[in-house]
Amino acid sequence: MVSAPLLVHISDLHCGVHSDMEQVAQLEVFVPELEPTAIIISGDITQRSRHGEYQRALAFVQRLERTAPVIVIPGNHDVAWWASPFGLRGKGPLYAKYRRYFGETLSPVLEVPGAIIASALSSHGVAFGSMTWNLRDTAVKGHVPREEMDRLEETFQNVPADLLRVAVLHHNVLRGEISDRMGLAHWRRAQRWLKECGADVVLCGHDHQEGAGQIDRQTVVSTAGTHTNRTRGKRPSVFNTVTCGPDSITVQHIRWDRDFHKWRHGTQARFARQKRKPIPPDEESAPPQEVLSEEG
Ligand SMILES: [Fe+2]
Repeated sequence: MVSAPLLVHISDLHCGVHSDMEQVAQLEVFVPELEPTAIIISGDITQRSRHGEYQRALAFVQRLERTAPVIVIPGNHDVAWWASPFGLRGKGPLYAKYRRYFGETLSPVLEVPGAIIASALSSHGVAFGSMTWNLRDTAVKGHVPREEMDRLEETFQNVPADLLRVAVLHHNVLRGEISDRMGLAHWRRAQRWLKECGADVVLCGHDHQEGAGQIDRQTVVSTAGTHTNRTRGKRPSVFNTVTCGPDSITVQHIRWDRDFHKWRHGTQARFARQKRKPIPPDEESAPPQEVLSEEG
Protein backbone atom coordinates (compact mmCIF):
# COMPACT_ATOMS: atom_id res chain seq x y z
CA MET A 1 0.00 0.00 0.00
CA VAL A 2 1.52 3.33 -1.05
CA SER A 3 1.22 6.42 1.16
CA ALA A 4 -1.36 9.10 0.37
CA PRO A 5 0.32 12.10 -1.27
CA LEU A 6 -0.47 15.74 -0.57
CA LEU A 7 0.25 17.86 -3.64
CA VAL A 8 0.51 21.63 -3.48
CA HIS A 9 -0.58 23.14 -6.79
CA ILE A 10 0.47 26.72 -7.52
CA SER A 11 0.21 28.58 -10.81
CA ASP A 12 0.71 31.91 -12.55
CA LEU A 13 3.17 33.57 -10.17
CA HIS A 14 3.96 36.11 -12.93
CA CYS A 15 7.03 37.36 -11.07
CA GLY A 16 7.34 40.95 -12.22
CA VAL A 17 5.31 44.11 -12.21
CA HIS A 18 1.97 42.54 -11.21
CA SER A 19 3.32 40.19 -8.54
CA ASP A 20 1.80 40.42 -5.06
CA MET A 21 4.99 40.18 -3.02
CA GLU A 22 3.25 39.90 0.33
CA GLN A 23 1.23 36.83 -0.55
CA VAL A 24 4.22 35.23 -2.28
CA ALA A 25 6.31 35.75 0.89
CA GLN A 26 3.50 34.19 2.92
CA LEU A 27 3.37 31.24 0.52
CA GLU A 28 6.96 30.48 1.46
CA VAL A 29 5.88 30.34 5.11
CA PHE A 30 2.53 28.56 4.67
CA VAL A 31 3.38 25.84 2.16
CA PRO A 32 5.95 24.09 4.43
CA GLU A 33 3.27 23.95 7.17
CA LEU A 34 1.16 21.78 4.84
CA GLU A 35 3.98 19.17 4.75
CA PRO A 36 3.46 18.47 1.04
CA THR A 37 4.74 15.41 -0.78
CA ALA A 38 5.43 17.52 -3.87
CA ILE A 39 4.87 21.07 -5.10
CA ILE A 40 3.74 21.70 -8.67
CA ILE A 41 3.97 25.10 -10.37
CA SER A 42 1.94 24.97 -13.56
CA GLY A 43 3.53 27.77 -15.59
CA ASP A 44 3.62 31.53 -16.08
CA ILE A 45 6.33 31.97 -13.51
CA THR A 46 7.32 35.29 -15.16
CA GLN A 47 5.40 38.21 -16.63
CA ARG A 48 7.59 38.98 -19.65
CA SER A 49 10.24 36.27 -19.62
CA ARG A 50 12.89 38.66 -18.27
CA HIS A 51 16.07 37.66 -16.48
CA GLY A 52 15.15 39.48 -13.24
CA GLU A 53 11.75 37.78 -13.20
CA TYR A 54 13.33 34.36 -13.70
CA GLN A 55 15.83 35.04 -10.93
CA ARG A 56 13.00 35.93 -8.52
CA ALA A 57 11.05 32.82 -9.57
CA LEU A 58 14.10 30.60 -9.15
CA ALA A 59 14.77 31.97 -5.65
CA PHE A 60 11.13 31.16 -4.75
CA VAL A 61 11.42 27.62 -6.13
CA GLN A 62 14.73 27.01 -4.35
CA ARG A 63 13.18 28.01 -1.03
CA LEU A 64 10.22 25.66 -1.62
CA GLU A 65 12.63 22.83 -2.51
CA ARG A 66 13.76 22.81 1.12
CA THR A 67 10.27 21.49 1.91
CA ALA A 68 9.51 19.05 -0.93
CA PRO A 69 10.46 18.29 -4.54
CA VAL A 70 9.19 21.00 -6.88
CA ILE A 71 8.17 20.52 -10.51
CA VAL A 72 7.94 23.61 -12.75
CA ILE A 73 6.71 23.95 -16.35
CA PRO A 74 6.70 26.96 -18.69
CA GLY A 75 3.53 28.93 -19.41
CA ASN A 76 2.84 31.21 -22.36
CA HIS A 77 4.42 34.18 -20.51
CA ASP A 78 7.65 32.18 -20.13
CA VAL A 79 8.00 31.69 -23.88
CA ALA A 80 9.90 34.34 -25.88
CA TRP A 81 7.44 34.01 -28.79
CA TRP A 82 8.81 37.13 -30.53
CA ALA A 83 12.22 35.42 -30.88
CA SER A 84 10.83 32.80 -33.26
CA PRO A 85 7.21 33.33 -34.39
CA PHE A 86 5.82 30.24 -36.14
CA GLY A 87 9.15 28.56 -35.38
CA LEU A 88 10.93 30.62 -38.06
CA ARG A 89 14.20 30.44 -36.11
CA GLY A 90 13.55 27.04 -34.59
CA LYS A 91 12.30 26.24 -31.10
CA GLY A 92 15.57 27.02 -29.31
CA PRO A 93 15.08 30.80 -28.94
CA LEU A 94 11.58 30.33 -27.49
CA TYR A 95 12.78 28.57 -24.36
CA ALA A 96 16.43 29.71 -24.07
CA LYS A 97 15.88 31.94 -21.04
CA TYR A 98 13.55 29.49 -19.31
CA ARG A 99 16.11 26.72 -19.74
CA ARG A 100 18.93 28.87 -18.43
CA TYR A 101 17.17 29.03 -15.05
CA PHE A 102 15.03 25.89 -14.89
CA GLY A 103 17.00 23.35 -16.89
CA GLU A 104 16.70 21.68 -20.27
CA THR A 105 13.57 19.67 -19.55
CA LEU A 106 10.36 21.44 -20.61
CA SER A 107 8.08 18.50 -19.71
CA PRO A 108 9.52 17.16 -16.45
CA VAL A 109 8.36 14.00 -14.69
CA LEU A 110 8.56 13.44 -10.95
CA GLU A 111 7.81 10.34 -8.95
CA VAL A 112 7.08 10.75 -5.24
CA PRO A 113 5.56 8.36 -2.70
CA GLY A 114 1.97 7.75 -3.81
CA ALA A 115 2.04 9.70 -7.09
CA ILE A 116 3.62 9.99 -10.50
CA ILE A 117 3.52 13.54 -11.83
CA ALA A 118 4.12 14.03 -15.56
CA SER A 119 3.84 17.25 -17.51
CA ALA A 120 2.93 18.09 -21.10
CA LEU A 121 4.11 21.22 -22.89
CA SER A 122 1.17 23.37 -24.00
CA SER A 123 3.04 26.70 -24.37
CA HIS A 124 4.52 27.02 -27.86
CA GLY A 125 4.47 30.78 -28.48
CA VAL A 126 2.99 31.89 -31.80
CA ALA A 127 2.48 28.49 -33.39
CA PHE A 128 0.05 27.14 -36.00
CA GLY A 129 -1.36 24.60 -33.54
CA SER A 130 -2.30 27.32 -31.04
CA MET A 131 -3.98 29.68 -33.52
CA THR A 132 -7.71 30.45 -33.41
CA TRP A 133 -9.86 32.83 -35.46
CA ASN A 134 -9.56 35.39 -32.64
CA LEU A 135 -6.38 37.46 -33.13
CA ARG A 136 -6.33 38.32 -29.42
CA ASP A 137 -5.51 34.68 -28.75
CA THR A 138 -2.15 34.97 -30.53
CA ALA A 139 0.66 33.93 -28.13
CA VAL A 140 -1.97 33.40 -25.41
CA LYS A 141 -3.68 30.11 -26.26
CA GLY A 142 -1.84 26.81 -26.20
CA HIS A 143 -2.07 23.37 -27.70
CA VAL A 144 -0.93 19.89 -26.74
CA PRO A 145 0.93 18.05 -29.51
CA ARG A 146 0.22 14.35 -29.95
CA GLU A 147 3.78 13.40 -28.99
CA GLU A 148 3.36 15.11 -25.61
CA MET A 149 0.27 13.02 -24.93
CA ASP A 150 2.00 9.83 -26.12
CA ARG A 151 4.75 10.50 -23.60
CA LEU A 152 2.21 11.01 -20.81
CA GLU A 153 0.45 7.80 -21.73
CA GLU A 154 3.72 5.89 -21.78
CA THR A 155 4.71 7.31 -18.40
CA PHE A 156 1.39 6.36 -16.80
CA GLN A 157 1.42 2.83 -18.22
CA ASN A 158 2.55 0.00 -15.99
CA VAL A 159 2.88 2.02 -12.81
CA PRO A 160 1.23 0.39 -9.77
CA ALA A 161 -2.57 0.75 -9.75
CA ASP A 162 -2.65 2.63 -6.44
CA LEU A 163 -0.23 5.36 -7.59
CA LEU A 164 -2.03 8.64 -8.36
CA ARG A 165 -1.39 9.64 -11.99
CA VAL A 166 -1.07 13.39 -12.23
CA ALA A 167 -0.80 15.29 -15.53
CA VAL A 168 0.37 18.91 -15.51
CA LEU A 169 -0.02 21.50 -18.24
CA HIS A 170 -0.26 25.25 -18.22
CA HIS A 171 -3.46 26.09 -20.10
CA ASN A 172 -6.83 25.53 -18.47
CA VAL A 173 -8.60 22.46 -19.80
CA LEU A 174 -12.01 23.36 -18.34
CA ARG A 175 -13.85 26.57 -19.21
CA GLY A 176 -13.16 29.47 -16.84
CA GLU A 177 -16.24 30.40 -14.83
CA ILE A 178 -15.82 34.17 -15.25
CA SER A 179 -13.69 34.30 -18.40
CA ASP A 180 -15.92 31.78 -20.18
CA ARG A 181 -12.76 30.76 -22.03
CA MET A 182 -10.76 27.60 -22.62
CA GLY A 183 -6.97 27.83 -22.51
CA LEU A 184 -6.33 25.48 -25.41
CA ALA A 185 -7.01 26.01 -29.09
CA HIS A 186 -8.16 22.43 -29.71
CA TRP A 187 -9.62 21.80 -26.31
CA ARG A 188 -12.06 19.01 -27.19
CA ARG A 189 -9.25 16.90 -28.60
CA ALA A 190 -7.03 17.71 -25.61
CA GLN A 191 -9.78 16.73 -23.18
CA ARG A 192 -10.26 13.42 -24.99
CA TRP A 193 -6.53 12.70 -24.98
CA LEU A 194 -6.20 13.62 -21.30
CA LYS A 195 -9.01 11.20 -20.49
CA GLU A 196 -7.44 8.46 -22.61
CA CYS A 197 -3.86 8.87 -21.35
CA GLY A 198 -4.81 7.45 -17.98
CA ALA A 199 -4.45 10.59 -15.85
CA ASP A 200 -6.42 10.60 -12.59
CA VAL A 201 -5.92 14.33 -12.12
CA VAL A 202 -4.94 17.21 -14.41
CA LEU A 203 -3.31 20.30 -12.87
CA CYS A 204 -3.45 23.55 -14.86
CA GLY A 205 -3.67 27.32 -14.51
CA HIS A 206 -3.66 30.24 -16.99
CA ASP A 207 -7.26 31.36 -16.38
CA HIS A 208 -6.40 33.35 -13.19
CA GLN A 209 -9.42 31.88 -11.47
CA GLU A 210 -9.36 28.73 -9.37
CA GLY A 211 -11.51 25.79 -10.28
CA ALA A 212 -12.19 22.14 -9.53
CA GLY A 213 -14.10 19.90 -11.88
CA GLN A 214 -13.96 16.86 -14.12
CA ILE A 215 -13.59 16.02 -17.76
CA ASP A 216 -16.69 13.97 -18.64
CA ARG A 217 -17.26 13.13 -14.96
CA GLN A 218 -14.09 11.06 -15.08
CA THR A 219 -10.75 12.88 -14.93
CA VAL A 220 -10.41 15.37 -12.07
CA VAL A 221 -9.11 18.86 -12.93
CA SER A 222 -7.49 21.27 -10.48
CA THR A 223 -7.11 24.83 -11.80
CA ALA A 224 -4.99 27.12 -9.63
CA GLY A 225 -5.32 30.93 -9.63
CA THR A 226 -2.63 33.62 -9.78
CA HIS A 227 -0.45 35.38 -7.22
CA THR A 228 -0.79 38.79 -8.80
CA ASN A 229 -3.29 41.63 -8.68
CA ARG A 230 -4.76 40.29 -11.95
CA THR A 231 -7.25 37.79 -10.59
CA ARG A 232 -10.56 37.35 -12.42
CA GLY A 233 -13.21 39.67 -11.03
CA LYS A 234 -10.68 41.03 -8.48
CA ARG A 235 -11.30 37.94 -6.37
CA PRO A 236 -8.73 36.83 -3.76
CA SER A 237 -5.83 34.69 -5.01
CA VAL A 238 -6.14 30.93 -4.58
CA PHE A 239 -3.83 27.96 -4.78
CA ASN A 240 -4.89 24.34 -4.37
CA THR A 241 -3.94 21.16 -2.64
CA VAL A 242 -4.80 17.78 -4.13
CA THR A 243 -5.12 14.73 -1.90
CA CYS A 244 -6.49 11.28 -2.51
CA GLY A 245 -7.79 8.22 -0.78
CA PRO A 246 -8.48 4.80 -2.31
CA ASP A 247 -11.90 5.97 -3.53
CA SER A 248 -11.71 9.74 -3.78
CA ILE A 249 -9.67 12.73 -4.93
CA THR A 250 -10.05 16.07 -3.15
CA VAL A 251 -9.18 19.51 -4.49
CA GLN A 252 -8.87 22.01 -1.63
CA HIS A 253 -8.78 25.73 -2.40
CA ILE A 254 -6.55 27.87 -0.17
CA ARG A 255 -7.51 31.52 -0.32
CA TRP A 256 -5.53 34.70 0.39
CA ASP A 257 -7.23 36.68 3.17
CA ARG A 258 -6.44 40.28 2.25
CA ASP A 259 -7.69 41.67 5.56
CA PHE A 260 -5.63 39.40 7.78
CA HIS A 261 -2.73 38.90 5.31
CA LYS A 262 -2.94 35.14 5.70
CA TRP A 263 -3.61 32.01 3.67
CA ARG A 264 -6.77 30.21 4.79
CA HIS A 265 -8.42 26.94 3.79
CA GLY A 266 -11.50 27.66 1.67
CA THR A 267 -13.93 25.41 -0.17
CA GLN A 268 -13.08 21.90 -1.31
CA ALA A 269 -14.45 19.56 -3.95
CA ARG A 270 -14.31 15.78 -3.63
CA PHE A 271 -14.61 13.43 -6.59
CA ALA A 272 -14.84 9.67 -6.99
CA ARG A 273 -11.49 8.14 -7.98
CA GLN A 274 -11.37 5.88 -11.03
CA LYS A 275 -10.89 2.22 -10.20
CA ARG A 276 -7.92 0.49 -11.79
CA LYS A 277 -7.14 -3.15 -12.16
CA PRO A 278 -3.88 -4.14 -10.44
CA ILE A 279 -1.09 -4.95 -12.90
CA PRO A 280 -0.41 -8.73 -13.13
CA PRO A 281 2.78 -9.63 -11.17
CA ASP A 282 4.79 -10.60 -14.30
CA GLU A 283 4.19 -7.15 -15.86
CA GLU A 284 4.89 -5.36 -12.58
CA SER A 285 8.30 -6.99 -12.34
CA ALA A 286 9.27 -5.81 -15.84
CA PRO A 287 12.16 -3.32 -15.92
CA PRO A 288 10.92 0.18 -15.00
CA GLN A 289 10.63 2.73 -17.80
CA GLU A 290 13.07 5.59 -17.78
CA VAL A 291 11.77 8.48 -15.67
CA LEU A 292 13.14 11.95 -16.28
CA SER A 293 13.48 14.15 -13.26
CA GLU A 294 13.13 17.90 -12.92
CA GLU A 295 16.34 19.77 -13.56
CA GLY A 296 17.47 23.08 -12.17
FE1 LIG B 1 -0.88 31.79 -19.12
